[in-house]
Amino acid sequence: MPALVLLGAQWGDEGKGKATDLLGGSVDYVVRYQGGNNAGHTVVVGDQKYALHLLPSGILSPGCTPVIGNGVVVDPAVLLSELSGLNDRGVDTSKLLLSGNAHLITPYHTTVDKVTERFLGKRKIGTTGRGIGPTYADKINRVGIRVQDLYDESILEQKVEAALDFKNQILAKLYNRRAIESGKIVEELLAYAEQIKPYVADTTLILNNAIDEGKVVLFEGGQGTLLDVDHGTYPFVTSSNPTAGGACTGAGVGPTKINRVIGILKAYTTRVGAGPFPTELFDKDGEALRTIGGERGVTTGRDRRCGWFDAVIARYATRVNGLTDFFLTKLDVLTGWEQIPVCVAYEIDGKRVEELPYSQSDFHHAKPIYEMLPGWSEDITKAKTFSDLPKNAQAYVKALEEMSGAPISAIGVGPGRTETIEINSFLS
Ligand code: GDP
Ligand code: IMO
Ligand code: MG
Repeated sequence: MPALVLLGAQWGDEGKGKATDLLGGSVDYVVRYQGGNNAGHTVVVGDQKYALHLLPSGILSPGCTPVIGNGVVVDPAVLLSELSGLNDRGVDTSKLLLSGNAHLITPYHTTVDKVTERFLGKRKIGTTGRGIGPTYADKINRVGIRVQDLYDESILEQKVEAALDFKNQILAKLYNRRAIESGKIVEELLAYAEQIKPYVADTTLILNNAIDEGKVVLFEGGQGTLLDVDHGTYPFVTSSNPTAGGACTGAGVGPTKINRVIGILKAYTTRVGAGPFPTELFDKDGEALRTIGGERGVTTGRDRRCGWFDAVIARYATRVNGLTDFFLTKLDVLTGWEQIPVCVAYEIDGKRVEELPYSQSDFHHAKPIYEMLPGWSEDITKAKTFSDLPKNAQAYVKALEEMSGAPISAIGVGPGRTETIEINSFLS
């Protein structure tokens, strides 16, 4: 089992951090392939809780080499502060590898992210304000700054100047903001250069060699399928490809090298930021899911929007990612409901629709069609095997599996590493 992808099957925050950390002890490399510090991955090890934003969750497993791939956008200030925060807690981060081709988030990207959102007003995306969109825009516009540029001062100066020439016009003339001095940006970036240097490597070469040698490589997605810039609920998405194909471009590994694609799927649904969400709840059930599930953003501290499980989305995630398995998380949060509604299809303009509509207007009008599944009241947090679960919880999992189109190979019954029921091994 040399290479597997682990990604969010919904709108992010499915529990990817926990799942990655769980496998971290058995894999050789954990690779972030897209996104940046817009991610917030929570890992609970014993009585210790870690919130990771940019670093791969594998960093907490001593035998594992964490890698930041070329497809990630890196804020150097965040990188260094996250590393020192972990070092202060006794975590060895010296094995980290950082692609020289990864793009840098600079202060002007975070400024542009924030002013653009303000300018959009009611139509805003609700971004994390971390400069993600503007940095990917510069990458595609070919005016981005890459990690390797930190090591050639004259190239760095030219590139920052070129990027700011245009941006300063926009900032001053459109947003009425002061121009950003390129000299100051260059100075700030150069101050990070030496501290980052030990980590910089040709990560695609290292990862391909590792796979060829039979080492186990895990690609850890940020965000989720419905936040994908191509396959998500555009324009209410992030600016990268969290879907499985993103692992190939974002790490420089061909699709023939990947054997397994695991979708992390919450037993209900959440979303942060703006955009359509057919099963969203605005009543006491929504509030209960938020409270019991602790649904508050790890990155921005915003309350997450909560709703019932949506099987149309899960099926879509199976399709666009070629999922081989699901890891169902947070089943314990549903304990206590007499009946649990599950969205099995949508009603759009009076018609029943089984698949996610490709048209944005149709999706905005989609009304969930629910099937009621019987709930359970027993505490399931100590369950170690599938048969330890109450019959109705087993039936809920089986129903979700059937509707979603791929086997559920693990179930989360609590935030801790050990609060997991493993059904099929991900690594066999
Ligand atoms: P990520 O962004 O996908 O890594 O997910 P987040 O860390 O943002 O949010 C998931 C939250 O659920 C975190 O607080 C986790 O500690 C927690 N969590 C993960 N799996 C489970 C589970 O099976 N049960 C419970 N109760 N909490 C879980
Ligand atoms: P993890 O990895 C949930 C959302 C933002 C916003 C949209 C665009 O923890 O699952 P961006 O700053 O990326 O340009 O914002 O995407 N978003 C997330 N929502 N979990 C995340 O990451 C997210 N990262 C971005 O709320 O709606
Ligand atoms: Mg998160």
